[in-house]
Amino acid sequence: MAIPTSRTKEKAEIKINSEKCTGCGLCVSVCKDFSFVIENNKAVLSGASLFGCVGCGHCMAICPFGAIEIFGRELSPDNLFEIPNKDELPQYEQLLALLQHRRSLREFLDKEVEYELIEKILTAAQTAPMGLPPSDVNVLVIRGKEKNRAFAKEFSEYLKGMKFMTSKIFLTIMRPFWGKENDEMFRSFISPLFEAYTTEMDKGNNFINYDAPLSMYFYGSPYTDPADSIIAATYAMIAAESIGLGSCMLGGIHPFIQMGKKAKKFRADHEIKFKSREGIFVIFGYPAVHYQKGIKRTFASTSTIQ
Ligand SMILES: Cc1cc2nc3c(=O)[nH]c(=O)nc-3n(C[C@H](O)[C@H](O)[C@H](O)COP(=O)(O)O)c2cc1C
Repeated sequence: MAIPTSRTKEKAEIKINSEKCTGCGLCVSVCKDFSFVIENNKAVLSGASLFGCVGCGHCMAICPFGAIEIFGRELSPDNLFEIPNKDELPQYEQLLALLQHRRSLREFLDKEVEYELIEKILTAAQTAPMGLPPSDVNVLVIRGKEKNRAFAKEFSEYLKGMKFMTSKIFLTIMRPFWGKENDEMFRSFISPLFEAYTTEMDKGNNFINYDAPLSMYFYGSPYTDPADSIIAATYAMIAAESIGLGSCMLGGIHPFIQMGKKAKKFRADHEIKFKSREGIFVIFGYPAVHYQKGIKRTFASTSTIQ
């Protein structure tokens, strides 16, 4: 067994073609699993790998002579592609302009997002780094305003069954267990949010996913590094911006559909395969509003050790 993910628990197989290998050692330097050593001017398996090949593919991708092939953990030589030339890449100023152009957008034209654009978003999001290969991120795509509204309505009904979580008595009982900061967040943010989601939906106002024409839920499995889904979702947002779509992350759904039998049923009813530590919805659509100015943001702190 190698490091497990929901997709595979086996290690990948490394094949070295010693006729092609020149012993340059690039594979040794990029493999952080200590899978390779150079013997008699040839790369050979060390027999002392740390975890068993996780299938990152870096050895295969860096070898100038095509001497290494990896099979397993969803990887094979078929996954190699020519990397774009440097002169095809956006410059920093262009990338910054794209990032500065993005705002969280919740007002969309009543227009479908074409399938080709969904494909483009997913293709870009799949380039995201992951804690461990193969990516253990799952994506649920909800297409069309009607389907997204139906999802939001069902989520609102589901939330009503958990209303006890916003009661004063529940919050008072929980405070010693989950601490001051969580208590403050619940009282000032989660409880009012809960209220707004459900009562506004009953009035016909969808504050859950804003009747977006497209949403994607990026989530993991119990094995997935919690950061993976969020990074993939971030890539998806940036890709969406580059093709003229607005987007907004929605953090208010994932935490409520993790624990308990009702959550399990909600997930099953909506084709969500796993519960996971982190996950995030992103809504997308053609912008119905256009901002006149950017907003300069800052981090809470930036410290440098040098
Ligand atoms: C992790 C995360 C969760 C968010 N959840 C929601 C949400 O549930 N509903 C919503 O309307 N906006 C949500 N947002 C959008 C933020 O409110 C938005 O990023 C913030 O207001 C800053 O705006 P900007 O992205 O245009 O700079 C979320 C953003 C992030 C990064």
